[in-house]
Amino acid sequence: MNASAIRITEVGPRDGLQNEAAAISVDDKVAFINLLSASGVAEVEASSFVSGKWVPQLGDAEEVFQRIDRSSGVVFSALVPNEKGLERALSLGHKRPDKIAVFTAASETFSRKNTNASIGETLQRFKPVIAQCKAEALPIRAYVSCVVACPYDGPIDPARVRDVIARLLDLGIDVTRDDIDLGETIGVAVPTDIERLYDAIGDVLPPQRSTLHLHDTRGTALACAYRAIQLGVASFDASCAGLGGCPYAPGAAGNLATEDLVYLCEQMGTTTGVKLDALFNAGRHVSRLLGRTLPGRVFCADGG
Ligand code: HMG
Ligand code: MG
Repeated sequence: MNASAIRITEVGPRDGLQNEAAAISVDDKVAFINLLSASGVAEVEASSFVSGKWVPQLGDAEEVFQRIDRSSGVVFSALVPNEKGLERALSLGHKRPDKIAVFTAASETFSRKNTNASIGETLQRFKPVIAQCKAEALPIRAYVSCVVACPYDGPIDPARVRDVIARLLDLGIDVTRDDIDLGETIGVAVPTDIERLYDAIGDVLPPQRSTLHLHDTRGTALACAYRAIQLGVASFDASCAGLGGCPYAPGAAGNLATEDLVYLCEQMGTTTGVKLDALFNAGRHVSRLLGRTLPGRVFCADGG
């Protein structure tokens, strides 16, 4: 393994719950997020300030942010697609998110399906959002989805990913303070795809400065994470018990399960800061809410 420690952002409350049909109360979401922040993850992506027409499951983002426990020192982030989303986030005053996540893609079709905008238009929308975040000293996470393949257009040339990253850097994303988060949206990647990706983007975004966001549709996410760690990646998104998906990526399953990543790393001597037992509490809570078993392997073996 390369890094001696990795940073984990838990995305279950956002990437997971955005994709669940079951109505989950604000109380239950808040309890889930509080359990996650007690587990030792560095960051929790708690909700999205996107259009409630597009993602009704997260239409209660304000209430969630008003009520979660902020005493743990965990960074709480939220997705924001445009100025309206940022306005909503900032209206929360001292209860606002600690970090703002904007999102675009390396696939034109996915970008349109997900945000009703071309890649260029999403970047235009980011301009005022980035400017205001900088004015407010709020760090930014900039997601690039479909870094290996698109659910509509198939394989994506890594050169296109490099191009989008370069455009984000031109817009003022500063990887010493902000994150560039590479989304393998549909879970098709194998380790050689991850090598090709980092080979192609390395001159604009070194692995050590990137975050990797893997989905586990085909059971290859952990292998990809392992290869990425060998290449120097030290920041990963993952979701509790493998919850997740994207409503605009048909067929995509949940994220890499946080417990699986923690287990692999800790067993191999790489520190995550996460206590598995605490994470299992969060997984059991969300399984009860959804009324089904969740797919994470370590959660099923030891925590369910
Ligand atoms: P649009 O329909 O083109 O926007 O959507 P619009 O400006 O025409 O607005 C339509 C309506 O939405 C209006 O309301 C706006 O006020 C309202 P109306 O006048 O009809 O009553 N609206 C908003 N309401 C609340 N908050 C807002 C907001 N903006 C507009 N921020 C838009 C454009 C970007 C808003 C829409 O496409 C959208 O919200 N998309 C988000 C979709 C989404 O959340 N997808 C999942 C997250 S991305 C993901 O999962 C991938 C990731 O995990 C990485 C990976 O795996 O690759 C991150
Ligand atoms: Mg995702």
